Amino acid sequence: MADLRYIRVERDAEIAVVFVDRQDKLNALNAEVVAELGRAFEELREDEGVRGVIVTGAGEKAFVAGADIDELAQMDSISGVGVSRHGQDVFLAIERFPKPVLAAVGGYALGGGCELALACHLRVASENARFGQPEVGLGIIPGYGGTIRLSRLVGLGRAIELTLTGEMVGAERALQIGLVSAVVPRESLLSDAKDFMRRITKNAPIAVRMALESIYGGLDNASPEALAFESSLFGLLASTEDMKEGMTAFMEKRKADFKGR
Ligand code: COA
Repeated sequence: MADLRYIRVERDAEIAVVFVDRQDKLNALNAEVVAELGRAFEELREDEGVRGVIVTGAGEKAFVAGADIDELAQMDSISGVGVSRHGQDVFLAIERFPKPVLAAVGGYALGGGCELALACHLRVASENARFGQPEVGLGIIPGYGGTIRLSRLVGLGRAIELTLTGEMVGAERALQIGLVSAVVPRESLLSDAKDFMRRITKNAPIAVRMALESIYGGLDNASPEALAFESSLFGLLASTEDMKEGMTAFMEKRKADFKGR
């Protein structure tokens, strides 16, 4: 694929593997990474040879450690809504992708990274995977569909617990609560993910596509109205002192001191 700086796509027969590759920032999603992810999926949609897509993080440490906090720290309420909408649009295109999409999660899947995994149809984790929605510790909320998709997958109580504590859960707990379908050794994550995908790609592609369409068509929790509401709240939080404090504290590598303003 042409002109991609942070996204790398490899092919293994009918399976495409999309690597988020920004390793010096633990694959954090800045606007460029999100845009490139969208472009990669647009191309893969048209590629008739591709029957399934695996999304994974490059390097050993992270799937994706979240949206880029340095970039988020610059936003105001209006651009905040735009940041959220951009991520939501790309993640919605992944959720509604006409071929199965599986997240192979090795290491950290935090914030926007967890939301990216949630937007995929399936998730396989390595033993060192860590999932979390730590946004409230930065003075914001999940803004890429996470307030909607997490509860759909793990249930209301667990989604509220994860979102309000901002704490991480490991792979075994993720398996227990239905956040992932399988936990595999780190060394074989990608090959195990491909084996998992082949259990799907051996089936009739049009039937697989229709099954996905019907499943997601029937849910419609991530309705346009619910997503717009999430974006408004996400943007609104950019005008709080607490957001500035939360993000500055992260960048200064210290604990945040929130004032509720
Ligand atoms: N946005 C921007 N930069 C990020 C990032 C993010 N979400 N996550 C990690 N990075 C950067 C770090 O700032 C650091 O950059 P530097 O080397 O230029 O200082 C680099 O990636 C490595 O991360 P570091 O924090 O040194 O690694 P660690 O192993 O000590 O900690 C984490 C790993 C994932 C626990 C920690 O990076 C973290 O808490 N990240 C933020 C997670 C988060 O809140 N995500 C939600 C954002 S909405």
